[in-house]
Amino acid sequence: MTSRERFLAACRNEPLERPPLWVMRQAGRYLPEYRALKAQSSFLHMVRTPEIATEVTLQPLRRFALDAAILFSDILVIPEALGQGYSFRDAGGIAMDRRLEGRADIENLAPAAAVPERLDYVAATLRLLRRELGDRHALLGFGGSPWTLATYMVEGGSTDDFERIKELFYADRGTFEALLERLTEALILYFRMQIAAGADAIQIFDSWGGIIAGPDYEAASLRWIRRIIAALPAEFPVILYAKGTAPHVTDQAFAGARVLSVDWTCDLAAVRRALPGNVAVQGNLDPVLLNTTPGIVAREATRLLESMRGRAGHIFNLGHGITPRARIECMEALVATITGWRG
Ligand code: CP3
Repeated sequence: MTSRERFLAACRNEPLERPPLWVMRQAGRYLPEYRALKAQSSFLHMVRTPEIATEVTLQPLRRFALDAAILFSDILVIPEALGQGYSFRDAGGIAMDRRLEGRADIENLAPAAAVPERLDYVAATLRLLRRELGDRHALLGFGGSPWTLATYMVEGGSTDDFERIKELFYADRGTFEALLERLTEALILYFRMQIAAGADAIQIFDSWGGIIAGPDYEAASLRWIRRIIAALPAEFPVILYAKGTAPHVTDQAFAGARVLSVDWTCDLAAVRRALPGNVAVQGNLDPVLLNTTPGIVAREATRLLESMRGRAGHIFNLGHGITPRARIECMEALVATITGWRG
């Protein structure tokens, strides 16, 4: 069985000898070959140049026996394509070129229809990747959720308190919805483009879904995600990653996603038991474990695998992105543990 078959079978909840494995942010700063490329270039240049983005995407697959490749890009290419660029703060975190303040700023964004052409380099990268991977590995596309993207656009970058986006949500719902509408339309076109260019699955990152009050999660985030999934081909594998949203997993399971990717605070086996049988789960080792030792990684990964023994529909992953401090030996131990395990 190829890695791609294993991945797609897990999305369909079919029983497997072992779960497929990939790692969020598997291409990135913990890899010396990534740091070497970045020393000669910049993140934005790497993302915008299909040959470089393809190379970076493939770097982790050359080193580790992973089952899926994920497009090297960023969720912030969507605000950028709508006219709000981004850069990195020296102290860490994202700076948007400006902050969206009111209705006029939102109306002045580019139309959603401009997105596929402005992001045509993403389609070019996916086509190159499909050619390189053949049908051996799964190829994942991705994007941010409308809510998570709106937090960056309204806050003007990374933030700790999310006050502006919440103020907009509570005090000016019409303007909030105008922004989320624009993002939803843009993401539908963007994901359709990724699927046409060869993506086997799409992961939607609702990384900030957990910062809105529980009763408002539906209006702030989930309803827009549901609309996006409904606009994609029926049965196409969409993975919904949301951080800090454990109370909402049941609602998320009915949003149309085929796979729910949960953070490390969840007991994965309990989530699996609670969900309908046609929804698979992905996760959820704490990324910090990869900063420790190979022995600890092997022990904790085995514990997670054993907790899922006998349950179909599991894609092994971390509960969030791997950190720059992760050790190569720990990734090797993770891969050896998953690929050597038999359920
Ligand atoms: O998983 C992968 O390997 C695919 C690549 C990927 C990146 N960003 C590359 C990247 C993916 C899937 C993302 C998604 C992303 N980007 C999210 C959602 C996932 C999540 O982590 O919750 C978010 C919130 C962003 C926005 C973003 N981009 C942040 C917060 C940062 C870190 C800024 C910092 O100061 O550390 C980025 C930059 C980024 N995106 C890097 C990579 C490899 C690091 C860039 C570098 O080399 O410095």
